[in-house]
Amino acid sequence: MLRPGRDDDAAGIVRLITDCWSEYPGCVMDLDGENPELRALASYFARSEGALWVAEDAGEIVGLVGTKSLGGGEWELCRMYVAARMRGTGLSDRLAYQVVEYARDAGGQVLRLWSDTRFDRAHRFYERHGFVRDGAIRPLFDRSNSIEYAYSKPINGVVVRVLDAAAAASAARSLGRVLSACVENGASISFMPPFGVDEGEAFYRRLASQVANGGRVLLGGWVNGTLAGTVSLDLAMPPNQPHRGEVQKLLVHPSFRRRGLARALMLAVEDAARGAGRWLLTLDTLSGDAGERVYRAMGWVEVGEIPEFALLDGAYHGTRIFWRKLERGPAGS
Ligand SMILES: CC(C)(COP(=O)(O)OP(=O)(O)OC[C@H]1O[C@@H](n2cnc3c(N)ncnc32)[C@H](O)[C@@H]1OP(=O)(O)O)[C@@H](O)C(=O)NCCC(=O)NCCS
Repeated sequence: MLRPGRDDDAAGIVRLITDCWSEYPGCVMDLDGENPELRALASYFARSEGALWVAEDAGEIVGLVGTKSLGGGEWELCRMYVAARMRGTGLSDRLAYQVVEYARDAGGQVLRLWSDTRFDRAHRFYERHGFVRDGAIRPLFDRSNSIEYAYSKPINGVVVRVLDAAAAASAARSLGRVLSACVENGASISFMPPFGVDEGEAFYRRLASQVANGGRVLLGGWVNGTLAGTVSLDLAMPPNQPHRGEVQKLLVHPSFRRRGLARALMLAVEDAARGAGRWLLTLDTLSGDAGERVYRAMGWVEVGEIPEFALLDGAYHGTRIFWRKLERGPAGS
């Protein structure tokens, strides 16, 4: 059903996009004035090393996606549209994976996209696929008065990014899914099962607002395009400890472990701490847990254990305290 798009698909493509836009008040199609490339969309993408795919059902075009190279290893996902009757069938997932695969095979490292601020269903879709807000919004000054959000995600290998407030808010659901999976998988990280994705999302929304007010640094970690891990640094220390930060909630989704993501997250959070002028870091972790092995392997110093610190599976377990000193800045800096 999915096949490479052709220039002579134009009529079906225009119909699909016009139908999708008509779901949002004020979005209008001005084919010749604003979207002339739709008349030969396959050629348009081919001119920038890209490609176009369409999905057909009963002779009608019901799905569309294109991609083009932006240069420097960056690619753009464009013109992602799925007919109302095909939503929730997995077609949109297949279209998005098609683009990631194509861009990665062509050596792409980052996939970007623009999405109209009104297209809330699309934002949820992109966020589920690991995209996060990245950079300023842009107004198009077109007949639809479009204002667009920028999204992006790394698509190749293990990559960690510091999330600003907009990125953190847009990552809340994906990170909530990671948190829920870790708690359900037996991790001792404040919460107890049953702990659903909604609760995890609410937790990361609160963290996003702390990022917005400067009280916290939040990092996201991707494995081949999936947002699969996170760690955060609490900066809200008392006035006599301006040099300290506490590393919290190092999490890697159970399906993405032992690929070096936790290590990459810890190196990046140490960098972020240095950038924030914090050179004495602390953390605690359940005795005997994989976290303990990560921190030891990375040279953190162990202080000792507090026995019976936290409840897990009906029994009390000990917690170990670790610290690490980074290169020191001047006192009071
Ligand atoms: C702890 C956790 C984040 C590790 O994630 P990860 O991505 O698998 O870790 P990495 O692949 O980066 O491993 C880094 C190193 O830690 C050590 N390590 C990690 N998991 C280990 C395990 N299960 N057994 C032995 N060593 C382990 C190894 O030295 C590893 O390096 P190696 O794979 O080259 O041998 C993950 O298990 C997790 O999310 N656990 C639940 C949440 C949790 O307990 N977090 C800690 C809260 S303080």
